[in-house]
Amino acid sequence: MFLMRTGSWNNNSFLLILCLTGLCLQTNGITVLIPDHVVSATVDESAFLSVEYKCSGIPTIRWKHLSLWGLKNIMTWEPDNYQNISESYENRIQEYRNGSIQLSNVQLHDAGCYVVTVTDEVGNSKDGVIVLNINEPVYKDLYFVVIVTTVLVTISTLLMFFLWICNQCMELFKMKRRARNVNGNLNIVIVV
Ligand SMILES: *[C@@H]1O[C@H](CO)[C@@H](O)[C@H](O)[C@H]1NC(C)=O
Ligand SMILES: *[C@@H]1O[C@H](CO)[C@@H](O)[C@H](O)[C@H]1NC(C)=O
Repeated sequence: MFLMRTGSWNNNSFLLILCLTGLCLQTNGITVLIPDHVVSATVDESAFLSVEYKCSGIPTIRWKHLSLWGLKNIMTWEPDNYQNISESYENRIQEYRNGSIQLSNVQLHDAGCYVVTVTDEVGNSKDGVIVLNINEPVYKDLYFVVIVTTVLVTISTLLMFFLWICNQCMELFKMKRRARNVNGNLNIVIVV
């Protein structure tokens, strides 16, 4: 009994040591520092996804975008060696030495998770995640409100004008009828 307990304790500590060693091995020589895990940007503006990595070997940096539409490669590069940019990101991405990227002209579909992976030549790697929120610009809403207000004011002015015309017609019609009635009465009076 006592032996078994010792055995299981040993097992657990062995597992714990294995996990810690595994973690140490996994993060061996690579760190990825992310100051802001949530970044916001406005439509048509640019988003800066800031990271800073340290890697004792030769690093390869890979950025991916995870959204409702799946996981997409953005770009992969090895500093001073090569870079590979996905077609849909060409001309609107800028990478920095510390692993950061800047996405320009962001649209609503750019919202989501951005995963950065730093891998060394042996295959050790470390991930980091940044969530990007995209806001719609306020002026677009204001523009919409201004247009709706203008249309409503125009419609109500036209309606008021139409009502005024109707009113005038009615008055004219009433006056004519009254005039005819007076004539009729006069006729009657004359006949009598
Ligand atoms: C990475 O480099 C860019 C450009 O030099 C800088 O603006 C940014 O703050 C850096 N990021 C970190 C986390 O240091
Ligand atoms: C660049 O990416 C494309 C598609 O993701 C791949 O087919 C190609 O082999 C890559 N080139 C390099 C140099 O990694």
